[in-house]
This record gives sequence, structure tokens and C-alpha cells, in this order.
Amino acid sequence: MMKPIVRMLSMTSLLWLAVVAQAQTALQVELTIRDDTPQARIDPNVYGQFAEHLGRGIYEGIWVGPASPIPNTRGYRTDVLEALKKLGIPVLRWPGGCFADEYHWRDGIGPREQRPVHVNTNWGGVEESNAFGTHEFLDFAELLGAKAYVSGNVGSGTPQEMAEWVEYITSQTNSALAQLRRKNGRDKPWPLPFFGVGNETWGCGGSMRPEHSADLHKQFATFIKAPQDNKPLIVASGANASNTAWTEVLLREAVKHMDAITLHYYTIPTGRWDKKGSATQFDESEWIITLSRTLRMDEVLANHTKIMDKYDPDKRVGLFVDEWGTWYDTEPGTKPDFLYQQNSLRDALVAAINLNVFHKHAERVRMTNIAQMVNVLQAMILTQGDQMVLTPTYHVFEMYKPFRGATSLPTEMTSPRYELGDIDVPAVHASAARDTNGRVHVGLANLDPHRTATLTIARASRSSGAPTGRVLTAPTMQSFNSFERPQTLVPAPLEVHRQGGRLIVTLPPKSVAVVSQ
Ligand code: AHR
Repeated sequence: MMKPIVRMLSMTSLLWLAVVAQAQTALQVELTIRDDTPQARIDPNVYGQFAEHLGRGIYEGIWVGPASPIPNTRGYRTDVLEALKKLGIPVLRWPGGCFADEYHWRDGIGPREQRPVHVNTNWGGVEESNAFGTHEFLDFAELLGAKAYVSGNVGSGTPQEMAEWVEYITSQTNSALAQLRRKNGRDKPWPLPFFGVGNETWGCGGSMRPEHSADLHKQFATFIKAPQDNKPLIVASGANASNTAWTEVLLREAVKHMDAITLHYYTIPTGRWDKKGSATQFDESEWIITLSRTLRMDEVLANHTKIMDKYDPDKRVGLFVDEWGTWYDTEPGTKPDFLYQQNSLRDALVAAINLNVFHKHAERVRMTNIAQMVNVLQAMILTQGDQMVLTPTYHVFEMYKPFRGATSLPTEMTSPRYELGDIDVPAVHASAARDTNGRVHVGLANLDPHRTATLTIARASRSSGAPTGRVLTAPTMQSFNSFERPQTLVPAPLEVHRQGGRLIVTLPPKSVAVVSQ
């Protein structure tokens, strides 16, 4: 007979073996790409960015000024500029966010040393030097090769101020405003493809009822006049998350006066603003809940789309998700209102899931802007003095580049679930698209942090061409790129095998991959 201690040990070993066996059992996933029923083109602007006057997003993150010891190109830090150029930013939203509805554009033009200093009341009450203004933003967008998306001030501004800003940027005439622009150093007008009429008018942009917001939208939009060949698309201030009632009123009252309406949806692990959860100190329960809250984006978009279809059956108006991403507690030791947070492998999964969902909704979702580009929330890039680090989210955006401008293809998948406690999610999340050269790309996320996933990928039509793959993963869910170890997470090649007409690929646990053929 076994002695009790020996029995206990063998029970523990059995349990351990069971855990190891589960971890080693690969998930078997069947994925079919319906390339016989292509859908909408994925607008490259789905890969857009957002930079607000918030924390170290603009100042330090992008703009250090020409006199800075940090290497810079006419005041823009060169390392960040070059990294963003590599990523290829299709469109950049500025100056906010909440900041936009307190921003008066005239404060940010003319000689920098004469510009007035204000208080950034939304973000920490810090001094706003106005050193980065209209010229600095539009020149930066030009350097990046990005389209400009300017958000105007409805909450504390006037229709006249907004109209004059558009005239200052776009007029080719000899009007006083065009001449002022020339005096300030810019002869030709800048292209202005997108103009936002206010931001979050239900909240920091004016605490309005949707009816009032719709009326103001029409009033302000009426006076935005620009030359025929440089007319911006007019973007209305839309809903927060699942508030479809807002979308309904805005569309019902003002659909003819807008080209797009916005939607903001953030992933907050706890769902609570007072304690959102840490960016790097989290356990598996926070991992799964973060991913499951991200997956809700699909339903949120479907619900807003349904309302839009009612008032805009021809689908003229775009849905711009111009703020999305993770929002955690700020990094310990940093200013709470600066919204600086680390970016881990979990953020890479959040980015991939959201991008997969946007591909699926490509018909309506024609622009998105992750919040925010540098040093704020789910950033592409973090800086510290003269150092810069590329985040896992940057790498996902880079890996997903082939999807820009490609045609979205539906996918059918049989995937086991990944479960923890009372939450269960699909273990693998995917999207597919065909680019203009006929190559098909599959974006994949393995949400399960323990099990590898063996995928069999089939296409409805015959496939040919050499398959390639890239993967992003790390030793732990919490792994991130620090200033000391900036290469902890970088994309690596992924083996893809062909078996008959199918592709076989093995995704490591907790990973993001792009497979192309
Ligand atoms: O991105 C941070 C803030 O979140 C934006 O300023 C605002 O629009 C939103 O509430």
C-alpha cells in the first residue's frame, strides 16, 4: 500500500501531467477563405493614427523643436519620424480628442516665440506652448506622406472660427487669411481631405444631447467652404461604444450634412474608469477579459451599421472608428493625466483582433485611428529622452500592411474555444483579404496562452504561389519591449507548409501571425 505522502505526490504529479498534456495538445483549427465571394475593399485609412496634445504625445514624442539636443528634422524627432515613415501612416488625426474643443487655431500660427501659452485643462493642467500648430502639423503630415484629418472646435468655438481655419489651410486666393498663411511661411494651400466637426460632443466636447449636437453639426458644417478640388470630407461627432441611440439621432437629423460619422470604443480590462487594470502586471483572467472585451467591437460595429443602413441605404456615409485601443491605469511614477502606458504582447493581440474585425466591416468602416500614435494609450512608439522603442502594436501594424487596399474575403472557421472561469472566446481569430496582385493574406491571432494551434487553411478556389508567414510572440503574456530590451518582441518568420491545395501552419500560443499566398 502507498504511504500517504507518496500518494499525495503521485496525485500532484498526475494533475501536473494533465496540465502539461493540455498545454501540449495542439488546437486543431479549420479555416476556409471564401475567395469566391469577395467583399469590400479595405480602405488603407483603416490603418490611421491619432495624435493629440496630451501628455508626451506631441511634445517630446513628435516635436522637440529645432534647438533640441535630440536629433531632429526641423523640430520633429528624427528617430520617430523615420520609424513612422517605415510604417507608412495613411492618415493622421489632430489636435484631439478632448483638446480639439478647447483649441483655438490662431494661437498656433506665426512666430513660435510670440505664440500665447495656455493651460491644457483636459490633460493635467500643464502649459500648452502652442509651438506645434497648424503649420507644424500639416508639414509633419506631408513629411510622413499621411493625409491630414483635422478636428475642429465646436464645444467652445464658433462656426466663423472653424470656417476661417479651413479657409486658412485651403485657400488659393489672395484673401487676408491666405495671405496670412503665406506670411507665416506656406505659399501653397495644404490638402485637407478630412475635417471633423467636434469631438465627443456627448462628453468633453460639450455635454450635448444628440438632437442639439445634430443641429450644431449642420450649423457648423454649412460654413465649411473650400475650393472644389480640396473639399474635405465632413466628419460628424459620433457615438461612444454601444450608444446606437446617438447614431440614430445624428443620422436621422443630419445625414445629408456629413460624409462620415465617428465611433469611439476603448478596451478597458475591468470596464471601470477608476481602476482600469495594469498594462503589464496582470494575470490570465485579465488577459482573457481584455481579449473578450475587444471581440465586442464586432457586435458594436454591426449595431451601428444597422442604424446607418436605415438612414443611408446607399452606404455613402462612412463609419470612422477614430479612437480605439487599450486604456489601462497609467504607468506607476508617471503623471496620471498623461495616459502613458506600456504595451505588451496582450496589446498585440488586441490590435490584431480589432484589425481583423475592421476588415470584416470594410464596407462601412473606412477609417480608424488607434489612440494614440506616440507615448499615449496604445501607442506605436514610446520615447524616453533620446531613446525610442517600437511597441508590439507597431509590429502588428507593420505585419498587417498587405491588408491596406486589399479586398476583404469572408472566412469560415471551426475553432475550439479558449475558456477561463466563466469567459470563453474563440481560440483563434482571423481575417483574410486579396491584394491587387492576387495574393491572399490571412491575419491570425491565437488567443490561447497555453496551446499551439494547428491551422489547415483552405480556399474556395484553387491557390498557387509560394506561401510565406510571419509571427509575433513572446515568452510570457506580459512581455513587452523596454528601453533596455527593445527587441523582446519582434516579428519572426513562420513556417507554412502546403498539403495538397491547403496550407498548414502552426501558431504558437499567444501569438499574432500573417500568412500570405
Ligand atoms: O484619447 C484620449 C481621449 O479619449 C480623447 O481625448 C477623447 O476623445 C476620448 O475620451
